[in-house]
Amino acid sequence: MKKADVIIVGSGLAALQTARELSPDLNVMIITKGQRRGSNSYMAQGGIAAAVAKDDNIVKHFQDTIEAGRGHHLEDEVMDLVKEGREIVLKLVTEGAPFDRNRDGSLCLGMEGAHSASRILHCGGDETGRFLIEHLLKTLTDAVTWIEGEMVFELIQDSNGRCSGVNTMDRSGTVHSYMAPCVVLAAGGAGGLYSSTSNHPTVTGDGMALAFRAGAYIADAEFIQFHPTLLYVDGKTKGLVSEAVRGEGAQLVNDTGERIMEGIHPLKELAPRHVVAQEIFKQRQMGKEVYLSINLINNFEEKFPSISAMCRENGIDLSRGKIPVSPGCHFMMGGVVIDSVGKTNIEGLFAVGEVACSGVHGANRLASNSLLEGLVYGKRLAQWINSQKNLLIQYRSVESEINKDIKVKRSINTFEVKEFQARMMDSAGIIRDEVKLQAHLNWLQSIDFQHDERLDTLQPNEIQKYFMWINSLIVTKAALLRTESRGGHIRDDFPEENDSFWMKRRIVHAFKDGEMRTWLDEQVKTKIYA
Ligand code: SIN
Repeated sequence: MKKADVIIVGSGLAALQTARELSPDLNVMIITKGQRRGSNSYMAQGGIAAAVAKDDNIVKHFQDTIEAGRGHHLEDEVMDLVKEGREIVLKLVTEGAPFDRNRDGSLCLGMEGAHSASRILHCGGDETGRFLIEHLLKTLTDAVTWIEGEMVFELIQDSNGRCSGVNTMDRSGTVHSYMAPCVVLAAGGAGGLYSSTSNHPTVTGDGMALAFRAGAYIADAEFIQFHPTLLYVDGKTKGLVSEAVRGEGAQLVNDTGERIMEGIHPLKELAPRHVVAQEIFKQRQMGKEVYLSINLINNFEEKFPSISAMCRENGIDLSRGKIPVSPGCHFMMGGVVIDSVGKTNIEGLFAVGEVACSGVHGANRLASNSLLEGLVYGKRLAQWINSQKNLLIQYRSVESEINKDIKVKRSINTFEVKEFQARMMDSAGIIRDEVKLQAHLNWLQSIDFQHDERLDTLQPNEIQKYFMWINSLIVTKAALLRTESRGGHIRDDFPEENDSFWMKRRIVHAFKDGEMRTWLDEQVKTKIYA
């Protein structure tokens, strides 16, 4: 059994930002089921939003965030995000992070949907994630140990419920245990629950399921953002075509050449994502194909090298000026409820980045606010942990007893992942209604998983399915309960927003006494340590 002061689960931007801001005399362990360059953040094309332009300010950025998320935010958190985020981005610029520059050396600031100013910083055109992760990796000290290729399948808790470590399983099914007084979940979102997604295929909501099983509060799970434009070839989505392409002037047209956003929203192609995704979905339901017309963009291949390469690999001839697109699951606004430094309701357990529900995204995240969230909350959490350093160091001498009697592996019959993902897409996807959601919930409940399953008796792929099942139950129940449409949650049977009842209410879930409990939180801010 190995020990650390801080265990970070995940290897994306929020994980690395937390790790690099931790004091160098703390022993930090980063555990990822893939490889350090295999995160969603690494694939991020879009950039980081920050109000750094002369004609921009944090109040405008705040207002755009609230408008896109339809008011379902913790407003103080949003204000702190845009304010601290701006400072952190400027610090990254100063330390030499490779943000794209104009010919005169000034920062290149792009435009994206629902932003009222050009404020998106990119790296390498459309390879912001890769460049930033490489930059952050270079800044990590030797105090960081990497464990790659092991999936955290369980949080270890002491008899008081305090989180004190993690159990992992490697690809051969061997179980390992790691102990630490601070466990930080930075395991990303859950795009892999759906058949169409922009996410890395390994991203299926492990962090949310782990936290849920340990008794953490999960909120806002019904708010899932579908990105409007994934490359669509041979009936399948292939990868993201960044919103920055529309920011540069691409237009959405159908196969008869009509501009589909005309008359739908004053911002047309740059309307909030849920509006654009819904319109593309409707066109496709009417049997029409939808394309991004890129004829108005000069030097497309130079500006968007990785999108151009993806199009070429999938047989799209860019000289024709049209990229076929369809929406897919992109981002989870909800997740593990945290306070402003990243604490959950479980002592010793923290969450940052997409896995967390910090209240900054509301019902629909403003484009390019997610890397910003990872940077801000990663830094804040690290600073809080640093302030507890003496306690953590004392903890090093405490003996941890873990008693694992590993049982013989057994197989269970559950579901085919492809069928599961297709059902999620159809029933809990872009447009939902009670009949489909209820039928999907019934199907999920007919699957023979027990919440108290001993997971170390399962194969790694079965644990993965179990976590997908838990997450799907959470999303589906929440989507059924929220009887309105707001942001990423669109109900055909409740097409309007119901501000007086729902705007500030959260649907919260937790696993307690062997059961899944779900309730409405009347408070804007879920109390963490009440
Ligand atoms: C994109 O480039 O369109 C995605 C960026 C984001 O989701 O913030």
